[in-house]
Amino acid sequence: MKVIVSYKIPEVGLKKLREKFELSLNEKGRFLSEEEMISKVGDADALVCLGTEKIDKEIMDAGKRLKIIANYAVGYNNIDVDYATKKDIMVTNTPGVLTETTADLTWALLMAIARRIVEGDGLTRAGKFTGWKPDLLLGSDIHGKTLGIVGFGRIGQAVAKRASGFDMKVLYHDVRPVAQEIEQAYKATYVDLDTLLKQSDFVSLHVPLTDSTYHLMDEGKLALMKPTAYLINAARGPVIDEQALVKVLKERKIAGAALDVYEKEPELSPGLSELDNVVLVPHLGSATQQTRGAMSQIVAENVIAALSGENPPNLVNKELLRKV
Ligand code: GLV
Repeated sequence: MKVIVSYKIPEVGLKKLREKFELSLNEKGRFLSEEEMISKVGDADALVCLGTEKIDKEIMDAGKRLKIIANYAVGYNNIDVDYATKKDIMVTNTPGVLTETTADLTWALLMAIARRIVEGDGLTRAGKFTGWKPDLLLGSDIHGKTLGIVGFGRIGQAVAKRASGFDMKVLYHDVRPVAQEIEQAYKATYVDLDTLLKQSDFVSLHVPLTDSTYHLMDEGKLALMKPTAYLINAARGPVIDEQALVKVLKERKIAGAALDVYEKEPELSPGLSELDNVVLVPHLGSATQQTRGAMSQIVAENVIAALSGENPPNLVNKELLRKV
């Protein structure tokens, strides 16, 4: 059986796949075009793809033998899952292993923007550190402030867990409240989105990208945030209306933003990179040696299970669960 891997992922998973299947690995050092993807999937039983690669009807129609699309990511908004389900193609993702790693990165962003770490680094490297000054790069305290978490799933909760070390008040919003034990464990209080935005000093987004979260943070919602508050996004770019964000940042309607993801990734909205009240990193949420290796293993386990007639551990379209 043949497995297409659209981009080089850590060897640990590739090795497992090579032991069992014929592997066709893109080693071009660049992403495959849609046409290349279409021509490659023709005789493939499995496709391993990146979370940033759009897997649409055309690709699935071309993959006549495809049994599984294994996403090398936890988010799967890049895949037309409904169409995959119609075509009996299993879709899998890599949840769990990247939860803590993404929460770490969220905190790195939060701290970097609040304490002006990137500006400080730039100033120091540029030889402009001429001595301690009472007013040099004053930021905002983190401890004792209010953290508002939008999307209280695995990653949102892992972000909340870290807040207790900073004696923060934690508010959260999701489609529904979590179980009381979870709220108690993280000392988190459920509030509606508007209340969260009005009361939080830091707003951190952890929702998946769906039709209902697209532009969740639009001009109206951004306007509810305090002028002293910061917005952090390590979820998906299109959850924020990026043009509206540039506007509020430029007009100092909020204090700053720290972003890992972008609306039209990898492009940035005009004006974003010129702002001094942003920290911008290139989609690094799960980017550690350990986690990317673990994701590679999981991808391999999902493919091996699906091609052996078993249920993959991380099946997204549960309608396709097999009675094995
Ligand atoms: C990364 O963004 C992921 O969804 O794993």
